[in-house]
Amino acid sequence: MATIFCTATSLDGFIADDAESLTWLFNTPNCEGDPQGRYGDDATLDFDRFIERVGSTVMGVNTLEWLRREAQSSGKPFAWPYEQPSWVVTHRDVEVPDGVKLFQGDVADLHPLLVEAADGRDVWVIGGGDLAGQFADAGLLDYMWVHLTPVTLGSGRPLMPRRLRLHRENVERDGQLTAMLFRVVGPEPD
Ligand SMILES: NC(=O)c1ccc[n+]([C@@H]2O[C@H](COP(=O)([O-])OP(=O)(O)OC[C@H]3O[C@@H](n4cnc5c(N)ncnc54)[C@H](OP(=O)(O)O)[C@@H]3O)[C@@H](O)[C@H]2O)c1
Repeated sequence: MATIFCTATSLDGFIADDAESLTWLFNTPNCEGDPQGRYGDDATLDFDRFIERVGSTVMGVNTLEWLRREAQSSGKPFAWPYEQPSWVVTHRDVEVPDGVKLFQGDVADLHPLLVEAADGRDVWVIGGGDLAGQFADAGLLDYMWVHLTPVTLGSGRPLMPRRLRLHRENVERDGQLTAMLFRVVGPEPD
């Protein structure tokens, strides 16, 4: 069981642009749309395999609102995309889909609930970056798994607004994306 921040990021370290758009990501061909494909068939940094090992999820409220806006803009009713027990962190009184729980406060108090709900599988910190950073501050983030996207955005929502030392565990090509798994070592001194 591990707690993993798995996300896509621009080359200059943003997970969303200033307008909270992800078109830069959706416009990037992954292995299905790029002839360079993957390195071999034994890719381990495969999102489909990752999600099978996820036992619970947590996201910040801005990410929830982004999901809601995406559904609205495509004319579809909003449907919660994850079947695992899930939490949204917020100080606001927001409407959440049935079964999704709200939390506010110190993520160190939330983590045991996520672990218990995961029942031996992994906890996925979906984002944003500061939320993942809160888990790292508490020494509770085990891995960062990023899909590096060959685009720069100049500004936006940061990947990890912290000084953290990471240890690279794996790198794989996924079309134009570069999937990288890092173990979190700890705070990087000034
Ligand atoms: N590239 C990717 O793969 C990826 C992945 C995830 C998200 N995103 C994008 O990133 C954007 C959102 O990122 P974001 O950094 O703005 O934030 P976020 O983590 O989705 O939301 C941040 C908000 O959550 C609330 N919050 C955070 N920690 C809390 C705590 N401990 N207790 C209570 N409330 C807490 C606060 O809002 P309140 O105080 O107002 O409640 C905070 O402003 C969205 O556009 C989303 O689509 C991209």
